[in-house]
Amino acid sequence: MDTAKRLDGIGEYYFSKKLREIEELNRMGKNIISLGIGSPDQAPHPDVIRVLHEESSKSDTHAYQSYKGSPVLRKAMAAWYKEFYNVSLNPDLEILPLAGSKEGIMHICMTYVNPGDLVLIPNPGYPTYQSAARLAGAALGVYELKEEKNWMPDFEEIKRLISTKPDSQKSVLMFVNYPHMPTGQRPGKNLFKNLVAFARENQVLLVHDNPYSFILNDEPMSILQAEGVNDVVIELNSLSKSHNMAGWRVGMLLAKAHHVENILRFKSNMDSGMFLPVQLAAAKALSLPASWYEKINGLYRNRKKAVEILLRELGCLFSEEQSGLFVWARVPEGINDGYELSDLLLYQANVFVTPGGIFGSAGENYIRLSLCAPEEKIHECTERVQRAGLFKSKHHV
Ligand SMILES: Cc1ncc(COP(=O)(O)O)c(C=O)c1O
Repeated sequence: MDTAKRLDGIGEYYFSKKLREIEELNRMGKNIISLGIGSPDQAPHPDVIRVLHEESSKSDTHAYQSYKGSPVLRKAMAAWYKEFYNVSLNPDLEILPLAGSKEGIMHICMTYVNPGDLVLIPNPGYPTYQSAARLAGAALGVYELKEEKNWMPDFEEIKRLISTKPDSQKSVLMFVNYPHMPTGQRPGKNLFKNLVAFARENQVLLVHDNPYSFILNDEPMSILQAEGVNDVVIELNSLSKSHNMAGWRVGMLLAKAHHVENILRFKSNMDSGMFLPVQLAAAKALSLPASWYEKINGLYRNRKKAVEILLRELGCLFSEEQSGLFVWARVPEGINDGYELSDLLLYQANVFVTPGGIFGSAGENYIRLSLCAPEEKIHECTERVQRAGLFKSKHHV
């Protein structure tokens, strides 16, 4: 049977294919060190694991759960937003727990996008924005982010994209994400305020995807702090990176009540509430003190220094002011693009780094290195590169 038309142009996720190749190389004895995926390699706080154990050994925690999530979790999410972003949210009306922010991206598209509607997505950007928009049948408006503009959106270019849409395309939805993946760019002081004003003026529904604000970032920010947010913004957040809980699948959607209700109409037909012990343990994670974030960031800071040594060895250029779980770097002179550099490293040094082109054409001259590997493994990557003698002539350019 043929696959549905909506899958046209949607391929298997890059990492799902690449990880198979890496497994095959490992079977051949290559022992690849992967700096590819941003999946935290440390455990959640011990109290979080304890709550999971305790709650899952009770007899009354195994039933189906509310589609809107446990009130305990929603209250914990509201308290977290108040404590760390100084944003007040009504836990009964303005918060929807999700199985990760990735899930929310799809739910929002399915709730608000009609076939042919314009969805604005960043290039480079998280590939799921594009695939979720396509699955909903959207017309894509790809807005480019450029290094010389500090990877900030160019509002004039976006206005042009909106002005070319036919009248039949009614709604416009725009994905933004700062700290930005893959470039590590922070939002800075005025970006969120400007984005909200732009969304208001141009009748755009903004979706801000915010999973990295606690990683290597002294000042976690939410777009919900900006003036005039009201109902033009939906924010997504996640425990995957900030609490070392990527495999647990816990995220959240924060928005005005009618958005939460609309999205719940879709979501409640797709899945059911999360396992209660996971929700209660996630509530515990959200109540951890600021020292938790300091601890995980101490580790990432050291790894980042090790990654910077590796990048200097490769002759790559990069900004030291990046937030999130990755370092984004421009390929050195003499190398065509990130794909070529990634392949050279994989086949000649047994090190895997992500080619920036998978995040869009504007990322082709870059590579992305993950901080989710132990510091000594990152140093070993540098040694392997030195041993392979790949970049001798390019040292210290
Ligand atoms: C920008 C961005 N958004 C969302 C996600 C997905 O996060 P979650 O685990 O909460 O689904 C990722 C994961 O890599 C990401 O990089």
